[in-house]
Formats: sequence, C-alpha cells, structure tokens
Amino acid sequence: MSDKKYYVTTPIYYPSANFHVGHCYTTCIADALARYKREKGYDVFFLTGSDEHGQKIEDRAKKAGLTPKEFVDPIIDNAKDLWEALDISYDKFIRTTDPEHVECVQKVFQKLYDQGDIYKGSYEGWYCTPCESFWTESQLVDGKCPDCGRGVKLMKEDAYFLRLSKYQPQLEAYLEENRDLMQPESRYNEMVNNFLKPGLKDLCVSRASVKWGIPVTFDESQTVYVWVDALTNYISALGYLSEDDSNFQKYWPADLHLVGKEIFRFHTIIWPIILMALGLPLPKKVYGHGWLTIGGGKISKSSGNYKDPREFIRDYGTDTLRYFILSEVPFGSDGNFSELMMVERRNSDLANILGNLVNRTISMTNKYFGGHVDRMKAITDLDKEVIIQLNHLDKEVEAKIDALDIPGALEIVFAALKRLNKYIDETMPWALAKDEATRGRLNDVLYLILEGIRLCAIELKAFMPSTADKIFNILNTKYNTFDYTKVGVKMFDVVEKPEILFTRIDEAEVKARIEAEEELAKKAEHLPEITIDDFAKVELRVGQVLESRRHPEADKLLVSKIDIGYGDIRQIVTGIADKVSPEEFVGKKVIVVANLKPAKIRGVDSEGMVLVGEEDDKIDILLSNLEPGAKIH
Ligand code: MSP
Repeated sequence: MSDKKYYVTTPIYYPSANFHVGHCYTTCIADALARYKREKGYDVFFLTGSDEHGQKIEDRAKKAGLTPKEFVDPIIDNAKDLWEALDISYDKFIRTTDPEHVECVQKVFQKLYDQGDIYKGSYEGWYCTPCESFWTESQLVDGKCPDCGRGVKLMKEDAYFLRLSKYQPQLEAYLEENRDLMQPESRYNEMVNNFLKPGLKDLCVSRASVKWGIPVTFDESQTVYVWVDALTNYISALGYLSEDDSNFQKYWPADLHLVGKEIFRFHTIIWPIILMALGLPLPKKVYGHGWLTIGGGKISKSSGNYKDPREFIRDYGTDTLRYFILSEVPFGSDGNFSELMMVERRNSDLANILGNLVNRTISMTNKYFGGHVDRMKAITDLDKEVIIQLNHLDKEVEAKIDALDIPGALEIVFAALKRLNKYIDETMPWALAKDEATRGRLNDVLYLILEGIRLCAIELKAFMPSTADKIFNILNTKYNTFDYTKVGVKMFDVVEKPEILFTRIDEAEVKARIEAEEELAKKAEHLPEITIDDFAKVELRVGQVLESRRHPEADKLLVSKIDIGYGDIRQIVTGIADKVSPEEFVGKKVIVVANLKPAKIRGVDSEGMVLVGEEDDKIDILLSNLEPGAKIH
C-alpha cells in the first residue's frame, strides 16, 4: 500500500425521509474524488454519515409514538439504500448515535472543560413551552413559535460555552498563512470580513432543554448541543481518543471536508477552533460548494418539486444521474437541476458521444476483423494529433481533480471522446474496408479508436464506475487501471455483441410526462395550515336561490338573489353560468359564505359567495337539506 493517504468527508446528514438530488450532490462529488484517489494509489478513507440528535428529531419521534432511535433507524437504512443505488463507495458511515462517537464527544467536551475552554454560563432565547424549544429571534415567525405558532417568552437557562473569542487571533493568523484551506478561495474574504473581523462571540455548546443529545458527563442536566457533537464525527470516526486510534494516526488531518455553503462557516471557524483547542492539526481543505436548485428554488417536498433520486435511477440509470450532477454545475456555484436537462445531456453526451462511439467502433471491429485488431504498425500525422491528446488526458484530468473542478475533468474526457468520433469521420473506416490494400490502415485506425476508448474509460471510472466497467467488458480488456495509460495494449479482442451503454430517450415524451406530473402536483398542493380559530372566522350558512339571471356583461357569471335566513336576502354573483343555467339554479339550497366583504364584480354588487366544487371541467354546487339560515361548521 502506498504512503499517500486521502481522507475525504461529506457532512453528516440530518435524518430525512426525503433525501433529494441536492443531498446526492455532495456525496457524488466526494465519491468521485475518493474513487479517483484510490485509483491513483492513495490509501483513501471516505466518510459519510448521519447527524441524529436534537429537538426536532425528538419531537418528530414523539409524534410518531417512537423513541428517537426507533424513529431514525429506518431513515438511516433508507439513506444507506440510496447511497448504494448511487454506487457510493464510502469506507465508513458514522452515526452520531454510535457508542464510539458518543464516548469521543464526551471525552472532547470533558477535555475542553478541564482546560478551561468550555465554561458555564447562561443561554438566553425565545422559549416555546408546549414545544419545549428555544428559538433565536430570527427563527420566530411573526414573533411566534415557528413550529406551533403559539406565543414564546424570553427565557434563560444554564448552558456551557466554548471560548471562540480566545482563539480568534490564532485562527486569523492561521487562515492568513494557509489561504488554500478555504475553497473556493473567493469564500475567504466573506468568512474573514463578515464573521472573524467583527469578533467572535463564545458559542453555546450545551442545552438543558434538549433531552435527545449526548449527556455532558460532569453535568447531568445538560446535553451537548449541535456543532460540537456533529463536527467531532470527523475524528471520532477515526477512533480519536479511543483504544485503537490507528486510523486517526493514519488519516488525520482530513485532506478535504466537502460541505454546502451554508455550513462552510461552521467548518472554517468553529471546527478549526475546536481542533486548535484540542491541539490537533487543521484540515487541509474545506470546500464550500453551491446548491442544486430546481426552477431556481430550494428543493423540498413542500415546494412540490421533490422526487426521490431513486426514481431517476430507475428511469435513467445511476450513471446518468451521477454524470449530470457531476458535470452540470460549475463547482462552487449554485446550479439548476432539471429532469429534462438531465435527459437532454444523457442523449447528447452519453448516448451520442460516448455510447455511439463505443457501439460503432465495436461493430466495425467485428464486421471487418471478427473482433480482433493488433497494435498500430504505422502512424500518420492525423494519428499523432489524436495520440498527443490522449497522452495528455491523464495529466489534464488530474490537474482538474486537484483543483476540485470535477465538471472540468469530465469536459476533458468528453473532448477526447468527441475527438475520436471526429477521427472516425476523418478516416472513414468503411471506405478503407472496401480495398484490401488499406486493410493495414484500417486495423491501425480501429486500434487507435479502441485504445482511445480504453483510456477514456479509465478516466471515467471515478465518475461513472459501472459504465466504465461495461466498457472494459465490451473491450474485453483487463488493462483498466491508470498503470495501463502509458503503454498501448498489444491487441484487442472485443466482444461480438456489445451491450448498448445508453439508449436514446424520447425527450418529447419525458417533457409531456413531467408536465402532467407537475399539473397533478399542483392539484395536490395545499394551502398553509390554519388554526381552528382562523376557520371559525368564516361564517357559512344555508341559502336558497330565489331568483337568478345572467350577468349583463360576463358570460360566466350569474347574478342571484339568495335568502340566507332571518329576512336576510343577498345579491350574490357566482361564476357558474357556463355550466348552470339561471333556471337550474333557482330553488337550490346552497352553502353561502355570509361574512365575506361585499365587492363589485364586473360592475355588479356581490354580498357573499356560493360554495362550488370543481373538477377538470365539471362543477358541483354544494347543497344542503337544511333550511335557509342554518349554520354550517
Ligand atoms: N447535519 C448538518 C451537517 C453537520 S456536518 C458536521 C447538515 N445536514 S443537512 O442534511 O442539512 O445537509 C447536509 C449537506 O447537504 C449540506 O452540506 C448541505 O449543503 C447539503 N445540501 C442539502 N440540500 C442541498 C442542495 N439542494 N444542493 C446541494 N447541497 C445541498 O447541514
């Protein structure tokens, strides 16, 4: 094993049943890097996991009638299942509920307390008694609890604090000297100017009110709060402060923490300070990537754009999703995810450029040489040009990977694949095949293309592992590692009937399906929740239609006189005239919103509203058997 090591981490995810493509983004990048470094002979440790403590989980578990652990277990199984479907090759999945992690966090907390870096103080925040939760001012919604909408009060409780302020000068100096710790470097100024320079406030690192957390060993009333628990996973996973810390000795410091931009601050300020306080070296790089968005907005179940990534995998395959996620978004920026764009890229890049190249080359090799070609005997200037590009492939991809520019790395491979397609058009093997005299040239041309495909497949292994494997199977070669990028193979004996790598997908069909799904999702959408008090503000009464006529100026409107009981006769305008005639409407006992503010509708006064159901182009007037004036609630 080589002495080069590479320790790469993703954040540990909050347990969520709704993992979306955004979550897959960090993990796919980490996986591509881990696979790439392994191929390059590094001893890799790739860590991912779950961040399971906190009030929210406790509340959700309670609601489900389960203990927090019972509640999160199936969610974690679901996450692991997703990572498996995405071919994620993590070396360890850490859970913050793992006893080894719990023990490590407790030791870290104790150590920091013993040396005076953690001290007791009091935490002040907005407390919601029924939810037993503290909120910060900015989390409140209209000054109320964001979870239950009830009132909150300003309260204090005992808590422990980490002396961030003490380490501020040391951290500033370190970051200044190690400019490449923060990636992309553009984030350096933001962190230093917005967070460090204004001065760090000590951080609350325990809570008395949160029960679902790691207990503080020296104070039973407290649990460790959020970031000390979560961040410590990067070292607890390696056995830090445990009996066997060989992994820690081998892999720490991390070569790369990959995180979304919203948690970059925690990883470049709080985490380095914890490490400094523990006397440990700091991670070499922290990369804050942008977000995947859908339609420019956040991905979530509530915004109606959520789809389980496994649906994409089922419809298009793992590597289509991996390729799209890894190639589409310039690293560091936000980028839009769309199923249709993914299908378009599959067709244009994976089917047309890659799949087509492999397919036609293999079929020509079979047709003209029964699947067998030998090493080139003569090299033309055109060949040289292609060979030079192929020879540079490896170094150029590596440079992009080292700059963490994954889309850039893929672009280089696809440029080579495109060059090979062009080379086919330039050399026209089908024309060479017509003449026995150019048979030698035909062999050389096909050899160069097959060799090019082999080299590209080696570069693609990290990004699209199963596609690369399929290509090696089709080429029927075992020369599939970086060791074999320098010397051309002696010959190829390709398979007779190659598997089609990527079929073309009908974009119009996908577009129509997506539109139908969106339409359906819109119908299923609900308005924001209201309380019973909100609903009680609406006065519903039975009313009987006495007279009805068409609105003089609007085809769709009926103007009716409706008796809503106790002598109250209202004029109400209703938008049903294209479905119900005035004659049909008269006599019906309908349900009326009786306390709606009067309005003029196309010049006619309307003093209420009739409840009508709607489904596609059918309507249904809600009727009652009760007498006018009866209340509905
Ligand atoms: N538990 C914390 C991390 C603690 S690490 C010591 C957390 N969890 S999270 O589940 O909310 O987010 C995990 C990661 O997923 C973050 O890096 C976040 O940026 C990333 N993403 C969540 N949605 C995303 C997108 N839509 N796009 C890209 N990444 C996204 O934060």
